[in-house]
Amino acid sequence: MAQSSQSPAYLTTPIYYVNDRPHIGHCYSTVVADVAARYARLIGGTSRPVFFLTGTDEHAEKVVETARQRGLTPLQWADLNAAEFAKAFELFGCSHDDFIRTTQDRHKNKVQQYITQLQEKGDIYQGDYTGWFDPSQEEYLTESTAKEHNYTSPVTGKPLVKRTEKNYFFRLSRFEAALKQHIEQNPGFIRPEARRNEVLGRLREGLSDVPISRAVVAGDEASAWGILMPSDPGHRIYVWIDALFNYLSTVDTPERRQFWPPKVHVLAKDILWFHAVIWPCMLMALGQSLPHCVYAHAYWVREGRKMSKSLGNFVDLEVIHKYIAAYSRDAFRYYLIAQGPQDATDADFAHTKFIEVYNSDLANGIGNATSRVGNMIDKYFGGILPDAKGITKLDDQPAFDWPAITKAAVTSAIAKVEVMDLSGALAEGLGLVRKVDSYINATEPFKLAKKIPAGDSSNQSPESQRLAAILSHCAEALRVASLLLSPALPAKMAALLETWSCTPDTSLPLLTLADWHGPSSLKPGQKVSKGEVLFMRAEGSEITP
Ligand code: MSP
Repeated sequence: MAQSSQSPAYLTTPIYYVNDRPHIGHCYSTVVADVAARYARLIGGTSRPVFFLTGTDEHAEKVVETARQRGLTPLQWADLNAAEFAKAFELFGCSHDDFIRTTQDRHKNKVQQYITQLQEKGDIYQGDYTGWFDPSQEEYLTESTAKEHNYTSPVTGKPLVKRTEKNYFFRLSRFEAALKQHIEQNPGFIRPEARRNEVLGRLREGLSDVPISRAVVAGDEASAWGILMPSDPGHRIYVWIDALFNYLSTVDTPERRQFWPPKVHVLAKDILWFHAVIWPCMLMALGQSLPHCVYAHAYWVREGRKMSKSLGNFVDLEVIHKYIAAYSRDAFRYYLIAQGPQDATDADFAHTKFIEVYNSDLANGIGNATSRVGNMIDKYFGGILPDAKGITKLDDQPAFDWPAITKAAVTSAIAKVEVMDLSGALAEGLGLVRKVDSYINATEPFKLAKKIPAGDSSNQSPESQRLAAILSHCAEALRVASLLLSPALPAKMAALLETWSCTPDTSLPLLTLADWHGPSSLKPGQKVSKGEVLFMRAEGSEITP
C-alpha cells in the first residue's frame, strides 16, 4: 500500500531502553528514520506534513534495580539516560518532531484507555500462563524457540526460566488469518523481503494468545514499575505492550491524528516479531489502520565481531565523537546509511572501510567535483554561472543528455526511497557526481579554456560558448546530486547550495520532481562561489578509534 508523495508521512524509530547507553545501533536506526524523513520532506514538497518520532522505553524491571544500585529513584535514573539518548540524536543532527518517554502521563493515560477498549471488546481476558521467560529481554519465548536455543536467551545466552502467572491475555489467535492475509496481500508491509518470508514462515506455526500483564508482587518495587492494568492494581501492563503503544499514543491528538497510520516503523531484526505480528494484531483489535511498512534492518558488527558488553567493543558515543570531530557529522551519517545493514545482512563497522568510503564518495566524490566546477566557473566566468544558451547536449557527446540523466536519477531515487533502499537513493546522487567527472574528462574544459581567443571578453567565440554549456551542465547536475545527497549530508549540502545561490525555495508550495528541474534549477547569471572545501582528504591516522 504505497502512499502518495504528498500525503502526511509518519516515521518512527524503536523507543530505546533507558538502561542501555546509546551506541551505533541505536544511532543507526534513528539516522535511518531521519534520512527517510528528510527524503519524505524533500520528495513530498515543503507543504507535506511529516512527523518523525523517537524516544525511550522506560518501564523495564531492570531500571528499578539499576536505579537502586545508584541511589536514585527509577524516574531519576530514566531522566538521566533519556537525556543521553536525546543528546546522542542531537549529535547526529536528527530532525525528530517529538521524543516520547513512556513514563510521561500523555502516554500512560492513553495506554490505559487502549487496554480498556480491548477489554470491552473481549480481546483481553484473564487466565493462567506458563512459559519460558527470558529475564534479560523481559519476554516469553515459544516452546520451539526456547528449545531451538537450548533453553537459553537467543540474545544474551543466559538461561531461560519457566514461569507460571495469573495473567491478562490478548486474543492474538483471533487475528491470525487476517494478519496472514494482510501480509500476503501487501508485499511492502514487511521489509526487506527476507524478513517478510521469515515472519510468514513463523506464522505457519500458528498464533497463540499472549500474556500482556505481570502480577505486582507485594514488596517488590520492580514488579509495580510501569502502567497498571485499568481497574486492577494487582497487575502491571507488560513493558512490551506499553512500549508498542507509544507509536499511537503520541499522535492520538486532534492535531496529529492526520499522521496515522505510520509510513514506516524503523527497527532491527531483533524486535521484528513484536512489530510485524503483535502490534498489527492489537491495532486490528482497536479498529486502527495498519502501518504501511515495518522495516527491520540487520545489525552492525565491529571489525568482524558481534558487539557485546563482554567484549566491550561497542562503537559507543566516545568512538562516535572522535569520528565526528575528525571527519564531520555529515560524513558519519553518510557512512552509516551508505554502508549500513539496511538489508538482511549484518554490516561491519571497520575503520579502513570508513576511510575508503569517505575518500572515494565524499572527499574525491561530491567534494572534489563541486570544488572543480566551482573553481572553473570562478576562473573562467568570474564566479557567475554562464549561459548554456539552451544547449542541453553537445552534439559530439550524445551520451551526456543532462536533462534526461538528472531526471532518471531523481525518478529512480524516489522509487528507492519508497522501498527503504536509502543507500540506493544516495547512490543515485553519487552516480550523477561520477557522470560529471566523466563528462569533464571527456570534454576537458580546462584545455578548452586555453583555446578561447584573446579579446573574447563577452564570451562570443564558439570555444567560449562550448565552455559555458559544459560548466553549466556540470553545475546543474551537481545541484541535483546535492539535493539527492542532502538527507544524509544536510549541513554540507546546505552549505554548498548556499554558495551556489540555489538554496531550495521553501516558499514554493511544493518541491516536487518537476520543480527540481523547473523553478529551483540554476539560472545563468547566478553567483557560483568557490566555497570552502567540503571534505578534506583523509589519511586514516587522524584518529585511533
Ligand atoms: N525497547 C525496545 C523497543 C521497543 S519499540 C516499541 C528495545 N530497545 S533497545 O534499546 O534494545 O533497542 C533495540 C533497537 O536498537 C534495535 O531494534 C535496533 O533498532 C537498534 N540496535 C541495537 N543494536 C543494534 C546493532 N548492533 N545494529 C543495528 N541496530 C541495533 O528493543
